[in-house]
Amino acid sequence: MANTILVGAQWGDEGKGKIIDVLTEQADIVVRTQGGNNAGHTVFIGEKKYVLHLVPSGILRQNKLCVIGNGVVIDPISLVEEINGLRKLKVHVDGNLFVSETAHIVFPYHRELDAQREILKGKNKIGTTKRGIGPAYGDKAARTGLRMIDLVNSERFELQLKAKIKENNEILKAFGAKPLSFKTVHQAYRAAGAQLKPFVCNTVLKLHEAIGAGADILFEGAQGTFLDIDHGTYPFVTSSNTTSGGACTGSGVAPNRMDRVVGVMKAYTTRVGEGPLPTENAEIADMLHNMGREFGATTGRPRRCGWFDAVATRHATMVNGIDELAITNVDGLDTLDVIKVAIAYRCGSKRLDHMPNDIEVFSKCEPIYAEFEGWKTPTDKIREWKKMPAKAKAYLKAIAELTGAKLTIASTGPAREQTIFV
Ligand code: GDP
Ligand code: IMO
Ligand code: MG
Repeated sequence: MANTILVGAQWGDEGKGKIIDVLTEQADIVVRTQGGNNAGHTVFIGEKKYVLHLVPSGILRQNKLCVIGNGVVIDPISLVEEINGLRKLKVHVDGNLFVSETAHIVFPYHRELDAQREILKGKNKIGTTKRGIGPAYGDKAARTGLRMIDLVNSERFELQLKAKIKENNEILKAFGAKPLSFKTVHQAYRAAGAQLKPFVCNTVLKLHEAIGAGADILFEGAQGTFLDIDHGTYPFVTSSNTTSGGACTGSGVAPNRMDRVVGVMKAYTTRVGEGPLPTENAEIADMLHNMGREFGATTGRPRRCGWFDAVATRHATMVNGIDELAITNVDGLDTLDVIKVAIAYRCGSKRLDHMPNDIEVFSKCEPIYAEFEGWKTPTDKIREWKKMPAKAKAYLKAIAELTGAKLTIASTGPAREQTIFV
């Protein structure tokens, strides 16, 4: 399969988990390289539903190695829970999951600060997952964070944590929030550290040893292109590089070792949290929510929904270097008479063919739509491209062409089998 970076080409929740699970069959190693437990990747295997937050979705296939890379921020308590949950479901993790010793740690004060900053922002809030992701990456950039290598070194960790709790309690007090008890946090983190110690190692060396031995690596992106801290709809973004470059910095595998980039996108658009979404449409949202779909995998919040935005995905192709596309949730549009696609924006009297960087301008953009005829046929039982309705094929080919990459996978349901190779 060669080394493949998989990214979300929209605002997250594109169905990356499902596509990772499918592509893992051909890979030897699956690596998460950014984000934290803000991610929620859903995979169905038979009737069983798995939601992965920190552990790569590749863990569900046997005889594959999984790595949580240096670019990820890890809440150790949450990781221990996830690992134990997987063990209960008889998923093998011991000896095949590796955690980077240089990945930064998320602490309770990060979560509390995340919540307090959102309250302070009031109606301008980001709508974060409140998992402490922004403050944890903030500490990393400020060079005041603690890493997994510290957590597994108990003497050093105690002193470092004491200082961090002292400093952060001052900040929490200023917010009018309750200070944290060092003893309670230390006890919980020490216990989690002891459980995680066997997983923690130098993952950069591990990955390069594997590359030397000819392994094929799949890099599992979290979030999506427009939640990228540099290329997203700032400030309504997450705090990591969700675009393909993040896979390199977040793993220690260089760009010239990468062979292809796969972009995952829904056949329509969703977003959870605040920030502009030009193609947002209440009817589409009601339709999907009434089907029981489009509720967040991490927070359970109803996702905002809208028509496919090709202006956005074209930009995603540019900044990620997307070669191939996997289009998911095609079945979500099965009942529609007419399907709209944004091909440009109108802002006042101006037509824009690219996303503007100014968030105020972007929030005023109105989509200019092209219309496609709906296929009005269930697609969830179709397994071959040639059996897809002609109008569905035309729609998918058109949005791939507008996005500027090659359509290779169409997904018509959450299950592995509901995957059509084009
Ligand atoms: P991720 O964060 O990108 O991994 O995506 P999520 O798991 O948060 O959300 C995607 C949702 O769509 C999950 O509930 C998947 O089970 C589901 N899903 C993925 N592909 C398809 C598809 O082709 N059709 C349907 N009906 N559901 C899908
Ligand atoms: P996966 O990997 C969708 C969104 C939040 C919020 C913004 C910032 O499942 O696609 P954060 O907690 O990261 O500081 O929140 O980013 N967000 C996601 N939206 N899918 C995700 O991950 C997300 N992770 C964060 O809703 O708008
Ligand atoms: Mg998700």
